[in-house]
Amino acid sequence: MLRRKHSRLTSRTVPLTFAPSAFKAVALAVAFPRTIASNRSMADSEFAATQWWQTGVIYQIYPRSFQDTPSPSGLADGVGDLPGITARLDYLVSLGIDAIWISPFYPSPMADFGYDVANYTGVDPLFGTLADFDTLLATAHAKGLRVILDFVPNHTSDQHPWFLESRSSRDNEKRDWYLWHDPTQPGDDWQPAKQRIPNNWMSNFGGSAWEWDQHTEQFYLHSFLKQQPDLNWRNPKVRAAIYSAMCFWLDRGVDGFRMDVLWLLVKDEFYRNNPPNPQDLASTLPVFTADQPETHVIVAEMRTLLDSYGDALSENAGAPGPDSRTRASTETTTPNSPHPTPGRVLIGEIYLPLPELVRYYGQPAENTPQLRGANLPFNFHLIQTQWQAEAIAQIIRTYESLLPSGAWPNYVLGNHDQSRLATRVGPQQARLAAMLLLTLRGTPTLYYGDELGMQDIPIAPNQVQDPAEKNDPGKGRGRDPERSPMLWVDAPNAGFTTPTATPWLPLQQDWQTINAATQQRNPKSMLSLYNKLLALRRRHDTLHSGGITDVVAEGNILRYRRTGLPDGHSTDFQILLNFGAETATTLCAPGTVILTTILDGEGSLTGNPDGTSSTITIESGEGLLIALD
Ligand code: NOJ
Repeated sequence: MLRRKHSRLTSRTVPLTFAPSAFKAVALAVAFPRTIASNRSMADSEFAATQWWQTGVIYQIYPRSFQDTPSPSGLADGVGDLPGITARLDYLVSLGIDAIWISPFYPSPMADFGYDVANYTGVDPLFGTLADFDTLLATAHAKGLRVILDFVPNHTSDQHPWFLESRSSRDNEKRDWYLWHDPTQPGDDWQPAKQRIPNNWMSNFGGSAWEWDQHTEQFYLHSFLKQQPDLNWRNPKVRAAIYSAMCFWLDRGVDGFRMDVLWLLVKDEFYRNNPPNPQDLASTLPVFTADQPETHVIVAEMRTLLDSYGDALSENAGAPGPDSRTRASTETTTPNSPHPTPGRVLIGEIYLPLPELVRYYGQPAENTPQLRGANLPFNFHLIQTQWQAEAIAQIIRTYESLLPSGAWPNYVLGNHDQSRLATRVGPQQARLAAMLLLTLRGTPTLYYGDELGMQDIPIAPNQVQDPAEKNDPGKGRGRDPERSPMLWVDAPNAGFTTPTATPWLPLQQDWQTINAATQQRNPKSMLSLYNKLLALRRRHDTLHSGGITDVVAEGNILRYRRTGLPDGHSTDFQILLNFGAETATTLCAPGTVILTTILDGEGSLTGNPDGTSSTITIESGEGLLIALD
């Protein structure tokens, strides 16, 4: 019989339909896999978690929105900066995360808020200085936090010196660093050259991906804004130059990179037209512009480069090392041999169906079981799937069954391009989502503010900042709603900036109650839930490194087990999550409820004293973490 006290929940918010963002559209244009989950055990203990990026939790910071600090003259500009992040590191330590990933802060004209890089080896004055970055990195390392940079290899800003050179003349030495193309042959209608675009490739921000350059009378390719020309990754000099920029940061001691749009790096060398999308005739399938086979060679090169470095934190790398910048000279694209204990992480932003996604883990290196691709090809499938027990069970099973041997799983529930978690699934389900993310097998990535249950903010037309919205208004492509300032305290501007400054985006309206300080004082807040989940995940080997089995949906309940390491000393856990709008019951083996998402009922016993299972009741939107006897 049930041996746990009942808890009451408020009514559940119906999940909102997911509003596709620019590259959501790219992802969905590829058919979803129909893979049947195999019966393979998911307790893949063959490769134990030994690396910080396997056992740890990653937290994404969008630097414009995290913490603004006044400039030396005393004025704050309403845009977050690097000293602001440094000032908030203690919060992150107390939250219990292990690594921060910082979205781009390089010098940039900010056409796409830093994803248009004008210099890969600097810091935009808006965010501070290189010295500020070094301070941030050293302070984070001193507190045991890792720092992952966002790197943007697919494109630069049109103001990057490489592009300025490239567009200066057809015979410039850097002409071939970007993708230039002649207009097509004139037809009977003698269209002007600038209208004769090379093919039907589309920009992810709407319209053709080709921009006419009057000066040299050719088109250049831009998969995103026209201010973001695509680099030519078939050119070895481009590869060497990017690897050299990566070394600049690795030598300073960064713990890894999140590689922007990694699956889009290479385009068809014959510039063939993409086929029409049968499900949406206004779009095409990115057959020749995404996931090209050559991309895997590049990912392996990046991995080799990262693996030639040791663990930044334990080696206390703070200054350029003895072999700085020799690892990727401009003459070669084949970096050096692996470090005996590599410790940097390669994360890929990849929106692909699961079978294609897992290929980004790469192939094993010769004579070793080690995969040579990305350590963590980001898995966005929990964002893309229906918020429903069976759909999610299927994602987990399919993903686990497709993972190549030695691959480490990961899950993401939010980022700066996606509608906020608490808006997508509703505030109550966002608590259940936290338990899901932090009890699955694999590295979780959190988006800043999700630990407070922050929601999308409404953006009036005159407040729009995001070029995705400006280019194609009113279609829900805008990403401003999920990028609003972090809410720190119950004080003017929620502590994000000074009381008199104007934040670059409006604050979420209920900042007086949703902020971190207020939630820290409330033992039942979303922040308290995250704190507890993160502490439990850290404390129990099973949760950060164990296996996962019995992933099943029973009606609206998703259940799975986390199984201990083979040493026999660790606890097994049962996780039960009720995605439904009604209270539901299920059977549970003997154990102790150690956490509920409503933070009520911990300590209750499950199962029967004779060792058999008993019925347990789970409120709508509630999740239970049970330590099994
Ligand atoms: C993916 C990034 O996440 C997104 O914010 C950006 O606009 C595009 N890449 C283009 O760099």
